[in-house]
Amino acid sequence: MSRAKITVIGAGNVGATTAQRLAEKGICDVVLVDIVEGLPQGKALDMLQSAPICGFDGTVTGTNGYEDTAGSDIVVITSGLARKPGMSRDDLLKVNAGIVKDVTLKASAKSPDAVIIVVSNPLDAMTYVAHKQSGFPANRVMGMAGVLDSARFRAFIAMELGVSVANVNAFVLGGHGDTMVPSTKYTTVAGIPVEDLIPADRLGQILERTAKGGAEIVSLLKTGSAYYAPSAAAAQMCEAILLDRKAILPCAVISKGAYEGCDGLFVGLPAKLGAKGVEEVVRFALSAKESEALKRSAAAVRELCEAVDRLGF
Ligand code: NAI
Ligand code: 2OP
Repeated sequence: MSRAKITVIGAGNVGATTAQRLAEKGICDVVLVDIVEGLPQGKALDMLQSAPICGFDGTVTGTNGYEDTAGSDIVVITSGLARKPGMSRDDLLKVNAGIVKDVTLKASAKSPDAVIIVVSNPLDAMTYVAHKQSGFPANRVMGMAGVLDSARFRAFIAMELGVSVANVNAFVLGGHGDTMVPSTKYTTVAGIPVEDLIPADRLGQILERTAKGGAEIVSLLKTGSAYYAPSAAAAQMCEAILLDRKAILPCAVISKGAYEGCDGLFVGLPAKLGAKGVEEVVRFALSAKESEALKRSAAAVRELCEAVDRLGF
């Protein structure tokens, strides 16, 4: 029996850290792809040399081509530009759509049965590009953002209350942008609704910080954007699929009839991830306010997808 294989495209901050996390989980072989000569090879070799210390047996291969990616179970797409200070995720649309199209065509040709997880920004629109260009069924294409945004929200709540992050459950839905929708209705601390624990005005500030979580890190780093939490989120999604966990995680997925305003769009919704990829889009009864906010967020995603179509991707 051979080990599962995950290809990570883009050996930059998010891609390399995702590859490292996956290798360290010991659940697969990893192939790391980048256009820069030597970069994926060097990082992969470095990771491989950590295996005796970290205790994993999987291989890590770096390459500038796609031969080694053949037969991957999962392809994680992180290639593209990261946001710079003052730059919105949407500014990245045109350049990253070209990159995502190119790598999707190459990777899907070599791994026609893979599940694709897109990380490149603007996330929801890039997931749309990958779906279109791969021709894969919708259950095998998804975007990573909700796990990250929810983790930020959970971390801020745990900090506020001085409790373990393990006690905080939260769902951030909608597009990965300024319109994202942290659902307070389904945010609990050891089962207690967060609204009973944190006063509304303070919770509002935490919601705002969550929505601007990516920008806060960009402004601190100055060159590049977040990657420790994003790579942890991507690796968690990979693990849920590879180990058929049936884990319910917020991911950019396509749905029909599950959430008003979201039909036919890749937008952050609760999804059950297992061996088949997205096995179900789980329906939560949102509050009226959350439902309206989700519709607004989906409308913003729709605009970006229309721009993608206009640009011919
Ligand atoms: P980075 O600049 O460190 O790495 C990007 C890598 O992609 C570079 O090594 C570059 O050479 C490579 N690349 C460019 N074109 C390529 C091609 N055609 N084929 C293969 N590789 C190619 O950027 P970082 O920080 O890793 O971010 C990557 C992307 O992920 C950005 O678009 C960023 O905005 C996005 N991102 C999304 C998050 C989310 O929540 N969805 C969170 C964090 C980042
Ligand atoms: C983030 O949220 C840049 O989208 C990336 O950190």
